[in-house]
This record gives sequence, structure tokens and C-alpha cells, in this order.
Amino acid sequence: MRHVVVPEDLSAAEIEAVFAVARDLQEKHDAGRRDALLPGRVLGLLFEKPSLRTRVSFQAAMAHLGGSSLFLGKDTGFASTRESIADFGRVLSQYVDAIVCRTTAHETLVQLAAVATVPVVNGLSDYCHPCQALADIYTLKRHVGRVAGLTLAFVGDGNNMARSLAVVCGQLGMRFVLAAPPAYQFSDAFRSHVRTILPEADIAETTDPRAAVRDAAVVYTDVWTSMGQEAERVARRQALAPFQVNEALMACCPDALFMHCLPANRGEEVTDAVIDGPQSVVVEEAANRMHLQKGLLAWLLGHA
Ligand code: CP
Ligand code: NVA
Repeated sequence: MRHVVVPEDLSAAEIEAVFAVARDLQEKHDAGRRDALLPGRVLGLLFEKPSLRTRVSFQAAMAHLGGSSLFLGKDTGFASTRESIADFGRVLSQYVDAIVCRTTAHETLVQLAAVATVPVVNGLSDYCHPCQALADIYTLKRHVGRVAGLTLAFVGDGNNMARSLAVVCGQLGMRFVLAAPPAYQFSDAFRSHVRTILPEADIAETTDPRAAVRDAAVVYTDVWTSMGQEAERVARRQALAPFQVNEALMACCPDALFMHCLPANRGEEVTDAVIDGPQSVVVEEAANRMHLQKGLLAWLLGHA
């Protein structure tokens, strides 16, 4: 039984295996077929924060695989004074075959995974968002045919998405560059963690967005103010304004793809012209959440 709480819970070979299952299922899906690999299986979706993509893509994925899903919101009392996370996780594991959990505090997910007797998948925490990063690199692979040796430039806040992409890029032999003001770059603790788990990873940080994107295969950005950081919005807007992904920046790398996990704050981290422009693959990234997660569920539940 395996959990995916952080991206490094999967090895490079396991990521490639998940990509292969996802690709197979995606090709069948595109040909109008559904492979019912998980009949009778139930996925619990335990969410403390809002979601469109993560919630619906997992629910659709389970339906396509012949299983079903239960959306479990705040009225379950999860991570509240109603009962302990340990009691909650042990009991929920009796009813469902896997749990996708979106939490405010990453530590909640760690505690849930420690007691759950079914696989726990991180559906976003303040620390990381592994399913999104996996779907993004899967999307890149679908475009280019390979990923090793390519550069992903992340321009903006060094947040949960940036950390997840840095790790997945490091695992798959890609170069990762973060362009951010010093206060929004990675923490020393994260840098040292990555050096320990991925000593060969090529991860750089800069305050110069143009230098970051020059050789990039992908320019990536995310909101400047993530869920839970709303009180910092004004300061973040001011500090990150020079890191907006706009047409002038994308002109430095005309062959690069533009990616964003969505939801976007148009006019802040990205302009309409870029997100709706010819380099943007944001809708395909969102679509690939479902395909990638089908591969992940089939792999985790032992049917791939
Ligand atoms: N990208 C993403 O995880 O979107 P949601 O917050 O809508 O799930
Ligand atoms: N960094 C964003 C990602 C949303 C998918 C957030 O945590 O709100």
C-alpha cells in the first residue's frame, strides 16, 4: 500500500510507469472507450478548501474506471475538534479504497497518511500539489516526446506548485529555474531537503525573469496569493509585479509552452494575451489532470 503525499513518494521509474498507464487510458478515452479497471472501488475526496479541477477530475476518473467517489467536505468534521485525525482516518479507511485529501496544513495530510489503511493522495496542501505537477510534466511529455534535459522556468511565487515542479523536474532529469524576488524564493529548509533527496537535481533560483525563461521549454506561473494567504495579498501584489508573465516576457522564448495550474488571477501573474495566446496549454493541462490521475489510481490500486 502506497501513499502520494509528496511528489518524492514516487520514484522516477514509478512516475514513468504512471505516465504509461495514463497515456494508454487517454488513448482509449480519445477513441471513445472506457477501461473499467476499478469496478466497485470507492474513492473518498476529503476537501478542506475549494476545488474545481482536482475534485471533478478525480470524480470523473473514478466513474470512467467503473468505480465511484464520495465528496467529503467540511461537514464531516475532518481536522476539527469533533474527533482526532487518527480516529477519522482509521474509520474512513473502512469505507473507501483510497482517499484524496486537500488540506490547509500539510501536517494534517501527513497525520492522515500515518493512520490510513488505504492509499492517501495529496490533492493540494500549503506545501505541495503533486498531482498537478505530475499532470503538467505528463502534458510536456505529450508535446515534446521527452522531458529529460528540458528546462521549466517558474516565474512568480516559490509556492506549493513551484516546490512540486522542482522535485518532479529533478526526478526526471529536467532543469528547473525559479524567478522570484528573494523573499518569495525557496526556504533554506526546502533547498537542503531537495539536495538530500535529489543530489543530482539541477535547480536554480534567480531574480531575473528574462534570464530564467531564455532557454525554457515551459514557462510556468501560478497565483501570487495562494489559498490561505489572502491577508498578504497587497504586499504580494507589490513584490511580485515585476514577475508578471506577459507578452514581452514570452517574446524572449517564442518556442516555449505556457503553463498555469489554474485558477488564474488574470492581469496579475499572467495577462489575457498570454493565457489565451498560442503558447498556452492551460486547458490541456487541466484535461490531463483526469488522464494522469486515472493512471495514478489504476497504478496505486494494483490494476495497472
Ligand atoms: N489546479 C487545481 O488544483 O485546481 P482546483 O483548485 O480547482 O482543484
Ligand atoms: N498555489 C495555489 C494553487 C491552486 C491550485 C493555491 O494553493 O491556492
